Amino acid sequence: MRGMLHLAHLDRSIAELLADQLEQVGVVFERQLASDLSAVNGLCLHVERYRGKMLRPTLVLLSGLAVSEEPHDEETLNERHRVVAAVAEMIHMATLVHDDVLDEADVRRQGATVNHLWGNETAVMLGDYLISNAFHLCSSLGDPAVNLALGQVTNTLCEGELVQLHHRNDYSIDEATYFEIVRRKTASLIGECCRQGALLSGAKPEHAESLYRYGIALGIAFQIQDDLLDLIGDEDIVGKSLGRDLEKGKLTLPVTHLVSQANPEDRGESLRVLKQRDAAALRDRLRDHGSVAYAQETARRFVREAKSELERWPSGRAVRMLQRMADSVIDRSY
Ligand code: FPP
Ligand code: MG
Repeated sequence: MRGMLHLAHLDRSIAELLADQLEQVGVVFERQLASDLSAVNGLCLHVERYRGKMLRPTLVLLSGLAVSEEPHDEETLNERHRVVAAVAEMIHMATLVHDDVLDEADVRRQGATVNHLWGNETAVMLGDYLISNAFHLCSSLGDPAVNLALGQVTNTLCEGELVQLHHRNDYSIDEATYFEIVRRKTASLIGECCRQGALLSGAKPEHAESLYRYGIALGIAFQIQDDLLDLIGDEDIVGKSLGRDLEKGKLTLPVTHLVSQANPEDRGESLRVLKQRDAAALRDRLRDHGSVAYAQETARRFVREAKSELERWPSGRAVRMLQRMADSVIDRSY
């Protein structure tokens, strides 16, 4: 049941169908990365450990199910869904391997990062290898529309990361810029997973667009929660290096809220704490000034927005599961 996302309490038969499909996605993923070179295989095996929740593949599959007539069986989803799910996960893995270089992070998924174990050069090359394999696998579908969509989304997430780098140590960054970054670097791929899953099942365009908007809102909520965890989470529980945003001068939603406080004295003190990279003092200020609560409420708002997209469609078991997935992205613990 590796890779299942809070499914224990969900509808049993659809959870089993999904678990079986995810297992097959894992096989597609591993088959694509299998190399005759042990040096390459060792690195890929390490990265496969990062495949935890399989959020993106799950969304491809569930979106495909949500637009298909019930009852669902093994035939409802086909190899194309599984290939796109594996491609999305591989793109995601590539970005994580590169992201850990940018963030100088040592821990991911309770284990050492590629850059920590083998250095930045290997991590950069491995990220390149993963992204190249993702598009090699995607091309095997022989469907230029899918390649174009996933190529476009990969451009978009790189743009998000570039804008974020551009605004490093920019203490006047506003909320609109934060959302622009998050929408591009995280939500774009999640939204596209939903849209592609639906399109592969022959969904009407308006249904696919609605699932895309669901994914975008869910992705934004996910990243807000991720950014909160980076500031106030416990590394042992979260299982990855935290405090990286402060260290790297990336101002996320709780911090933009804190520095936008009107009182000049308060603002001055917040800037001092930020510039000194004083994580403990920053945590206290974020709680005391309601910035943690503000970010949590904003994430909840996006979860509501995601779920409201689903209300317009007939409620089946896959739709109910998508609703619960939206809730689960902000349940992640501190
Ligand atoms: C996570 O940020 C990072 C992303 C969602 C996108 C990263 C994208 C790149 C580094 C571009 C690389 C592109 C390719 C095509 C290989 P985070 O640091 O907030 O998340 P974390 O807490 O999981 O580290
Ligand atoms: Mg990071």
